[in-house]
Amino acid sequence: MIKKPFHYGGTVDNQYFCNRMSEIKELTTDIDTGLNLLLYAPRRFGKTSLVLHTLKQTKYKYIFLDFMSIVDEYEFINEYFNAISKSLDTTADKVVEFFKKILKVKPNITVDFDISGNPSFKLNFLHKENATVLKEVLELPYLYAKYHNKKVVVIFDEFQEVVNLEIEDKLRAVLQHHEDMVSYIFLGSKKSIMTNLFFDRSKPFYKSVKHIPIDKIGFNNWQKYIKNGFETNNKKIEDNHIKMILEVSKGFPYYTQQIASELFNMTQKVVVSEVVEEAIDSILEKEEDLFLNEWNHLSQQQKKALKFLIHFGGENIYQKEKMIEYNFTSSSLKKAIEGLVAKDVIDSKKSSFYLQDPLFELYLSRM
Ligand SMILES: Nc1ncnc2c1ncn2[C@@H]1O[C@H](COP(=O)(O)OP(=O)(O)O)[C@@H](O)[C@H]1O
Ligand SMILES: [Mg+2]
Repeated sequence: MIKKPFHYGGTVDNQYFCNRMSEIKELTTDIDTGLNLLLYAPRRFGKTSLVLHTLKQTKYKYIFLDFMSIVDEYEFINEYFNAISKSLDTTADKVVEFFKKILKVKPNITVDFDISGNPSFKLNFLHKENATVLKEVLELPYLYAKYHNKKVVVIFDEFQEVVNLEIEDKLRAVLQHHEDMVSYIFLGSKKSIMTNLFFDRSKPFYKSVKHIPIDKIGFNNWQKYIKNGFETNNKKIEDNHIKMILEVSKGFPYYTQQIASELFNMTQKVVVSEVVEEAIDSILEKEEDLFLNEWNHLSQQQKKALKFLIHFGGENIYQKEKMIEYNFTSSSLKKAIEGLVAKDVIDSKKSSFYLQDPLFELYLSRM
């Protein structure tokens, strides 16, 4: 049997889930209270894993919908309907029976089964019926919760994509009446869009949620996790090598797992520094296409501003000498920085700027 102590790509749980105790606690309390919640962080930061991991430990039924692949209102209705149907009841018959009882429009539901016997549900309707059917489907979690007198949780993942569907107003109009019977959790990978959706006065979702910050996983927790992964498989890693990993990944979950995994595979018995370097190089190589793509989507001024940030660090960026060296005026630098923030390449904390992706940063620093 090949043991695999580290995992990257897709959501993680159980043995692969490291810490996040304070976030889990806050999430659980807020769901119990019946709040609607907002979580945003860069992609591959662990949002989906955290929320699913937390909900599995609660008593609530939950519905999970990923907006990433949904292209229009019609598809949203069907995907959401399917997600609801799969989550709420134990058998396909029960689901259909429940919908027949509760839906006003007599539903025409098709159930298909895959080879393992898992059902998928389709609501048959015409595009011109979108508006009515959308409303009804949006009500389903609430109707279900009321019918059984049991609270339901709905997770909308990659919710920033909603802006491409133009259904925000309709969503908000229905969801706001669900109060404490349904808790909605909105997850997003684009901070700029998510904050705009929820904190801009003119937007339908303004002030409808509590924001839960999600941080990187701390050094000590990673240290235990990585050490344990090696040791339980009879390999050895010293603290200074774990430190090397974390200095590069900065505790960013996906990259920490990826480097640890690569290093684990490249190590026979005992980790040595050269192999840590090799593991990191090999990951940079693997991710190069992605990084180049991101780089090529920036304007020349934005590229220059990134180099500037990497060179000087993100604090006190408007110092004269610094700007002169890169031929920036304060207004041209400001514009480039704002562009990078809007593209979610950089973010700021206490007036200091940083690149969101630690490996992209390393890649650029070696360019
Ligand atoms: N709590 C965690 N402990 C360990 N690794 C994690 C954790 N959360 C996320 N990861 C790592 O990050 C990757 C991406 O997680 P995911 O939940 O899909 O992120 P997101 O939803 O933010 O894109 C996982 O495949 C895993 O390698
Ligand atoms: Mg996710």
